Amino acid sequence: MLFFNNAATWLTMKLVTRAVKGTHDLFGDEIRFQRKILRNARQWLESAGAFELATPVFEFTEVFQRGVGQTTDIVQKEMYTFSDRAGRSITLRPEGTAGVIRAFIEHGMKVMPQPVRIWYAGPMFRAERPQKGRQRQFHQVGYEIIGSDSYVADAEAILLSYKILESLGLRQMRLRIGSVGDSQDRMKYNEYLNSVLTPHFDDLSTDSQRRLVSNPLRILDSKAPQDIALLQELDVKPLLEFMGEKSRKHFESVKKALEDLGIAYTIDSRIVRGLDYYAHTAWEIHHELLGSQSALGGGGRYDTLVETLGGAPSPGVGWALGLERVTLAMQAEGLSPDAASRPLIYIFPLAAEFAEKALLAAQSFWPQVSAQYSLSAKKPAKGLREAEKRGAKYAGIIGQDEAASEAITIKNLHTKEQKLLSLKDAAALLKGENNEAH
Ligand code: HAM
Repeated sequence: MLFFNNAATWLTMKLVTRAVKGTHDLFGDEIRFQRKILRNARQWLESAGAFELATPVFEFTEVFQRGVGQTTDIVQKEMYTFSDRAGRSITLRPEGTAGVIRAFIEHGMKVMPQPVRIWYAGPMFRAERPQKGRQRQFHQVGYEIIGSDSYVADAEAILLSYKILESLGLRQMRLRIGSVGDSQDRMKYNEYLNSVLTPHFDDLSTDSQRRLVSNPLRILDSKAPQDIALLQELDVKPLLEFMGEKSRKHFESVKKALEDLGIAYTIDSRIVRGLDYYAHTAWEIHHELLGSQSALGGGGRYDTLVETLGGAPSPGVGWALGLERVTLAMQAEGLSPDAASRPLIYIFPLAAEFAEKALLAAQSFWPQVSAQYSLSAKKPAKGLREAEKRGAKYAGIIGQDEAASEAITIKNLHTKEQKLLSLKDAAALLKGENNEAH
């Protein structure tokens, strides 16, 4: 019994001292990379007329079952689904679009001037096998244009994601674009896949045998070597060859618009995105220096999703970028994140009883001035060294005289000039400094 207790304690301690597999803590460079990506995304997207929408991280499971699609890997194997206390099925969002469309319908956004442009950011959850660039909790920034079926909206969406990535300094990207046609094209194509694959049913993986019945198109997305080999051996034709006039015209127009906008692309005739809501244009942006998880982002048109989720018909198009992947790409290209913030002044008390005065001084400089202070006493030489180590331009010293008179001795660490100032005058001096320039 004792052993069991110890083992249980050992296990508990193991569990409370590490993050769940596939999740991670963001701090240091990593969060500064994400902050930079989000800042650039916000600037580009809001300048194009988008407003920010923050949907809850969990929704009723039906939102994703219907939105993302029953036959997708996401819905079948990757969702974090649980019953809430009232026994309703709840799911942590595996992606952002379904929730955005739910909100679009719920808040009657169809009465707003159309199309509406929405951007969002936040954590997403998929129970995938973790590896570099693939996590169970990851972060996305996304953009949706809802209420237009124009090919120009597709071009705008792609353009904006490209511009955001370029504004971060990224250069080694490749846009892969394809079309998944409309529902009629897909029906024809599924019939074709059925006719060529059914005679080879036994050669397919179990997952793909199931897909052959539920949604043959998904077989093209299979990672199972036997499926890949079979598709190659049978020289299966791409969906592009089954597209009707309307789909073909839309695709041609998007490609032409991208050429006009100077965005290079390659055609990916077998593009199958991991979500069922796409129609017509679908694309991914890959990075040349990343390994197997090289997609920085992906998106496409979804003309029936609003109806699928119970709203009046409203065609849309959008994308999401994965912040962890964009970070890896920026690191691979040697780009830097936002600079770590350095204090303009570092204040230290010469005796422990003046620590509260150091706080008083710091708060008179906040928030315009970045001011850090020491909670413990420091001898002058040590305090000055510490100020330099933290990259401060000034050191603030609080001794007996300063503490008694609401004053502070300020030393410029570059010029070595030192003066005793009232807190008010010190605040005026520091606030006049350009925080960035030191
Ligand atoms: P998605 O292709 O599933 O599309 O995800 C977009 C991006 O999120 C991926 O290209 C990748 O960078 C990142 N990502 C996805 N899964 C993971 C993971 N497990 N770990 C790390 N990063 C990941 C969507 O989510 C659609 N909602 C995009 C969209 C918006 N389509 C239309 N509107």
